[in-house]
Amino acid sequence: MAQYTRVSGSVGLITLQNPPVNALSAAVRQGIVDTVKRALGDPKVKSVVICGQNGIFCGGADIREFGTNMSGPPLVPMIHAIEAANKAMVAAIEGSALGGGLELALGCHYRIAHSKARLGLPEVSLGLLPAAGGTQRLPRLIGVPAALDLITTGRHVTAAEALQLGIVDQVTDHSTVDAAIKFALSVAGKPLDARRISTYPCPCPPDLDALFEGVMQKVRQSARGAIAPIACVQAVRAAATQPYVQGMEREKELMATLFTSGQARALQYCFFAQRAVSRWSMPSGARWDTSKPRPVYKAAVIGLGTMGRGITVALAQTGLSVVAVETQEKQLMEAKQAVSGMLERGSKRRGVAPALDKISYSPDIRVVADADLVIEAVFEDMALKKKVFQQLSAVCKPGTFLCTNTSALDVDQLASQSRNPELVVGMHFFAPAHVMKLLEVVYGSQSSPQAVATAMQLGKKMGKVSVAVGNCRGFVGNRMLKPYVEQAFFLLEEGATPELVDGALEEFGFPMGVFRMSDLSGLDVGWKVRKAQGLVQPAAASGQPARIREGHRYSPLGDLLCEQGRFGQKTGRGWYQYDKPGSREARSDPWLHSFLEEYRARHGLVARRIDHQEVLERCLYALINEGFRILEDGIAAGPEDIDIIYVFGYGWPRHRGGPMFYASLVGLAKVLERLEHYHQAHPDVPNLQPCSLLRRLVASGSPPVHMWREVVKKLHSQL
Ligand code: COA
Ligand code: ADP
Repeated sequence: MAQYTRVSGSVGLITLQNPPVNALSAAVRQGIVDTVKRALGDPKVKSVVICGQNGIFCGGADIREFGTNMSGPPLVPMIHAIEAANKAMVAAIEGSALGGGLELALGCHYRIAHSKARLGLPEVSLGLLPAAGGTQRLPRLIGVPAALDLITTGRHVTAAEALQLGIVDQVTDHSTVDAAIKFALSVAGKPLDARRISTYPCPCPPDLDALFEGVMQKVRQSARGAIAPIACVQAVRAAATQPYVQGMEREKELMATLFTSGQARALQYCFFAQRAVSRWSMPSGARWDTSKPRPVYKAAVIGLGTMGRGITVALAQTGLSVVAVETQEKQLMEAKQAVSGMLERGSKRRGVAPALDKISYSPDIRVVADADLVIEAVFEDMALKKKVFQQLSAVCKPGTFLCTNTSALDVDQLASQSRNPELVVGMHFFAPAHVMKLLEVVYGSQSSPQAVATAMQLGKKMGKVSVAVGNCRGFVGNRMLKPYVEQAFFLLEEGATPELVDGALEEFGFPMGVFRMSDLSGLDVGWKVRKAQGLVQPAAASGQPARIREGHRYSPLGDLLCEQGRFGQKTGRGWYQYDKPGSREARSDPWLHSFLEEYRARHGLVARRIDHQEVLERCLYALINEGFRILEDGIAAGPEDIDIIYVFGYGWPRHRGGPMFYASLVGLAKVLERLEHYHQAHPDVPNLQPCSLLRRLVASGSPPVHMWREVVKKLHSQL
């Protein structure tokens, strides 16, 4: 809807009304058409201001309408009518002007923004392009390179940057509507021809072909298979090379291709999934977010390895006081330096003062006594963690929340060491913790809703996407990763190479395949854990490494590389070779290929041809199968939670929507059929046997992903 009033005698004021973000629903579009007509027909009105209610101009097209039978007046002619108006139209931008909201403002003759406003064309992140003239007007207004940057990245700009770029005409610190009315009065009756952006020639740099070639190459590389950024470049190219009317035709044509693509559906699903997981619920459907989080003023971090350092930085950047405890003197000194460096670099990027004085360091755990919340990040060793929890329980003030950054260990066992197990939760960060967006908040059997709410809230404050998950080995992310990585190992045994496996996964859209990732994070990390658990049999002891472990087929390939001192990038050798230790450029290693051949010969394995399709099906469907088990076990509340974890923490290409959404797109029946096929072909390979929830969903007609929660709930109520 849109409200119309006349103010200051001669200014028509149109207010968009559609909480919470004044999205351009059919009713709002109709409201704009009607009120603009009224304003233009009112002889007393000399100029018009368009604003949004509740401090936000407009969050763009109504995403919920996509995929429905869209009714109501279309945006393009509506914006044309505004631009063609013979009375000055002024956009008063507060809060956000995004997507269709900014396109509406670009149709106006003038734009006044509040200094705190953000503007942008984020359609690309929803798998679309700004198709209400955004790709044609913005380059005409601010030039091709700047428009390409904004449209292909979807980034939001501040009012100050918008002013500098020429997107807005004025920025105010005071009431934007008042400033816009004053401005509208001052421009009433002035000629408007020079204010209609669609009539502008597009300012282009001299070597346009070279510019587009360079941008296209860059965009293709970073898009990793996403089609929208490429269509955005093509649309801006049309603005630069064709008259406005043809450019609009091209914009429409490109949008039509994107609109019906699976990628747009996947990205829009991610948009809503991200918001749904922040309202965390239990698998039973019971909502927990009604529990009030307790404020955290002072936090503590125990153990300053890679994770502890990153967590300290992320906490300090939120403005909290942090006490950081590290028992090893040398580590403490190094950590102090590293944390200060990270804070300084971060503050330079963000243009704020580094929060160095927020952190105090100590080797003595007793300094955490007055912290409201403690995050333990010591070695991944249950006995050590238990000891730390006992100490914390003894020194912390009553009511302190005790969190563990374990990536796989049992949160309940740690809680049992505390006097108040209800105050214990997992906060599983991802390395580097001050950069990675994902946080798994792990609730144990005794964690109180308030403890979970407090950890979720703190995560949000730290800028993380927090997902509440149940307690099991590896929680959600790492539990699903295990079968994925294992399949990659088995594929090597069967005839694949690291290059083939990584190539298939990278072509799918992962930034790195299993083996390049393993080289980056270090093969020794998992090896040490497996050794500590007695799971590694040295080759020398039995003559041949065992290929059965805990009753299942197991591939000892990773252990064998570690025994050779091949730990990945850090040693210059791993699944690939590197020019020198620490170098990042992975090169094929003939040694590794001979090693695989020898290994296969030793175990009587005959190499066969494996193609990309098989790599994807084996690795991804095994991971998805585990995702279904996780839903079955009630470890994740719904498929959205799993998908958000994979998109934000594991490099799953966002335009493929996350593993569970992807499964629904591929078709559950197909996933089931392929798993059955591979299970029959390799009965001894674990994790290929389809789980019962997958079978159940297929048997019930493969309902769409948003209905799975209901099926799971029913399943739980029958148990
Ligand atoms: N269409 C429909 N619903 C929208 C929407 C849109 N364009 N933008 C936001 N919403 C909804 C959200 O889903 C959320 O609904 P919920 O409360 O039921 O979960 C609600 O509005 C508030 O959004 P949220 O993102 O939680 O609020 P915020 O204050 O953090 O951010 C925006 C506000 C506008 C910056 C942010 O919502 C946004 O970026 N929206 C998308 C903008 C966009 O891409 N527009 C182009 C569309 S093609
Ligand atoms: P990562 O964060 O990469 O997993 P590590 O496991 O190497 O890093 O780091 C754990 C850190 O915890 C080490 O610096 C270690 O010295 C420290 N640490 C171990 N025990 C304690 C303890 N009881 N109190 C504080 N720090 C500890």
